[in-house]
Amino acid sequence: MLPTKIVAVHLNHRSRATESQVTLPAARRGLGISRDPAAEAAMSREPGIDLQDWLSRAVTAVGRWEDTFAPFDRHRSLHVSEERFGAAFEEFTQRLRANYPFFHPSYAGQMLKPPHPAAVAGYLAAMLINPNNHALDGSPATSQMEKEVVAALAAMFGFDEHLGHLTSSGTIANLEALYVARELHPGRSIAYSAEAHYTHGRMCGVLGVPGTAVEVDGSGRLDVGALAALLAGGQIGTVVATTGTTGLGAIDPVHEILAVARRYGVRVHVDAAYGGFFTLLAGRADRAGLAPAPWQAIAQCDSVVVDPHKHGLQPYGCGAVLFRDPSVGRLYKHDSPYTYFTSDELHLGEISLECSRAGAAAAALWLTFQLLPPRRGEPDGLGEVLAAGRRAALDWSELLGASDRLELYQRPELDIVCYFPAAEPRSLAEIDRVSARMLADGMNDKENPVFLSTLSVPADAFGQRHPDVAADRDRARILRSVLMKPESESYVAALHSRVEELAVR
Ligand SMILES: Cc1ncc(COP(=O)(O)O)c(C=O)c1O
Repeated sequence: MLPTKIVAVHLNHRSRATESQVTLPAARRGLGISRDPAAEAAMSREPGIDLQDWLSRAVTAVGRWEDTFAPFDRHRSLHVSEERFGAAFEEFTQRLRANYPFFHPSYAGQMLKPPHPAAVAGYLAAMLINPNNHALDGSPATSQMEKEVVAALAAMFGFDEHLGHLTSSGTIANLEALYVARELHPGRSIAYSAEAHYTHGRMCGVLGVPGTAVEVDGSGRLDVGALAALLAGGQIGTVVATTGTTGLGAIDPVHEILAVARRYGVRVHVDAAYGGFFTLLAGRADRAGLAPAPWQAIAQCDSVVVDPHKHGLQPYGCGAVLFRDPSVGRLYKHDSPYTYFTSDELHLGEISLECSRAGAAAAALWLTFQLLPPRRGEPDGLGEVLAAGRRAALDWSELLGASDRLELYQRPELDIVCYFPAAEPRSLAEIDRVSARMLADGMNDKENPVFLSTLSVPADAFGQRHPDVAADRDRARILRSVLMKPESESYVAALHSRVEELAVR
């Protein structure tokens, strides 16, 4: 027996919505959201967008579309009582409180921040429909959106032609690029810098291709001299350049790598998973501007990966891979007897190693790009978000340079700042110990927490930058802060003094 009061919690929005219901209060009622002053205050921090309203409107919009189809009875197996849902939801929201405050500028640790409200509303609306961007049969609307956002990304990198798609992550996007690299240069190895993301070595293992780590220079960039010597040996088929390494945010000299690679008939893949959107700052005349040469060279490279779920304001998982030569699509050729039947147009699954992919991810990115376009020189574009984080990193590096409690590890190239305590004795062991202690003290402070991350660096790399520090161990943890929230810009002075306090404890 089902309880007498059966409430289809998730179905309210599917009851027929009339024109008059599509007012904001009604929309809120439709979602069961009552106005909560605390939530309103939190939402008002998002300039311009009232997320409560827009989430509700998203539910209403989808409900109205559903109402254009014949009514039917929802199956009772899906029904839950509001009471049970409420109890489970209460426990669920309590458990979410175990998170670190990724939204707050006092979270200055890893590459984490919530998505833009537009992405949240776009994702929610599309997720209620739940299209699968594998085939047009499962996603007529969101596959088209995906093609448009991928074209916008290709234009951002200056590709004249392209073939590409979204992926569930940077890892999968890089796997696809390396898969194509292997198919085009069978039997030849893949080279990447010693600072490249671990995924390259790992995916070489998955693909059964030998991978070679190339040494880096004193700033953590791939050493082009060492690369040239390696390529002369004739074993390498593809080189990976990283524009924005995960640890330090270093930018490999793509233009120089490309010149050397072309001399030896070697492909160039760019891992811009983290740094890719910084191309929007290339050549800018202001403080946030970046030297354009590496970014301009991406247009001539064979493939590039960028993660909208890092600097594109998207929720996980949204990566992207782009190829300059659309004919590589032939390497994905496969048969799918169950899909690809409603259209002769390109189904994204035909050029992707993954099968099911969230159409909602494409929808969220599409909506975000309508508002914050990824175009250079756009005064209200996505570039301004990155510029603020870049300025925050520069500001902090100046404060660190003047501090007697903290030291800058190296000058930031993007928005990642690495630093360490000015510990005594001046040794790697002591720097490692104090860095780890500061990380723990900062996050465990109930009154005034601050959230950092650590980066383990080899003794020789440390010594290149700070030769006066005693190398009494092989590696040391230093502190690392990714300032990817634009709010970091106005918070950086407070962050600096808080981290200085931690250093002297
Ligand atoms: C340069 C780079 N490449 C690849 C990756 C892996 O991306 P994902 O975590 O989306 O799989 C990362 C993640 O931080 C990265 O920074």
